[in-house]
Amino acid sequence: MARFFLPFVLMLLCVQTTLSSGVFELKINSFSSSRGVCGFQTRDCQIFFRVCLKHSQDVINPEPPCTYGTALTDIFGADSKSISSSAPIRVLFHFKWPGTFSLIIEAWNAESSGIGSTDNQNNLISRLATRRRLTVGEEWSQDVDFSNKSELRYSYHVLCNEHYHGAECSAYCRPRNDTFGHYTCDETGNRVCLEGWTGEYCAHPQQSPARFNRHTLQLNVRCLA
Ligand SMILES: *[C@@H]1O[C@H](CO)[C@@H](O)[C@H](O)[C@H]1NC(C)=O
Ligand SMILES: *[C@@H]1O[C@H](CO)[C@@H](O)[C@H](O)[C@H]1NC(C)=O
Repeated sequence: MARFFLPFVLMLLCVQTTLSSGVFELKINSFSSSRGVCGFQTRDCQIFFRVCLKHSQDVINPEPPCTYGTALTDIFGADSKSISSSAPIRVLFHFKWPGTFSLIIEAWNAESSGIGSTDNQNNLISRLATRRRLTVGEEWSQDVDFSNKSELRYSYHVLCNEHYHGAECSAYCRPRNDTFGHYTCDETGNRVCLEGWTGEYCAHPQQSPARFNRHTLQLNVRCLA
């Protein structure tokens, strides 16, 4: 049974290595505008932000489509306290992290009904568009934008999802300890065999490798194909 099942599982394993996966997170730290964040509508004034990620462009077109992804914050009060304590905006991606990108951040007034809609351009408070370079890592990059009569302070970083590694979040490695392999993963996504195991997938017992050779061969051929 295991003999027929094994190549199928290994094929899945190989397919997964071609995917990438990660998340871009952006946090609004503060926002203010000399025109007033909410114009004349100061009572119950609520705002939200939209983040749009695109491929790097010399002249950034801030309009959709957001080729790398887009996300909205929740709606919150326009005071600095609720802005700074809001949750980060998360944009998930499933491609190799390119390192450079165009970043567009918009501040919007929420409708009085409490709906965060980007349909009515009159509700757009401000918009910034900038090009950035960013490597994968936990550390938050801080930035501030003073354009358009407003001040926006924000921070952002990009992280690989679980089991994805490397500078592009494209090296897939999931630790395992079973028939199909005995290994952990290092930071760049390389397999590190557990003690007593060897081979590309750490599926050979170090003492008697001959028994597993045929399966391992099959596996390598499939990964190359
Ligand atoms: C300033 O924001 C308004 C939207 O409120 C927008 O129409 C305008 O193009 C912006 N100006 C600049 C220089 O970004
Ligand atoms: C791997 O599995 C074996 C057998 O199930 C177990 O004895 C061993 O402790 C495991 N090693 C690790 C690092 O989990």
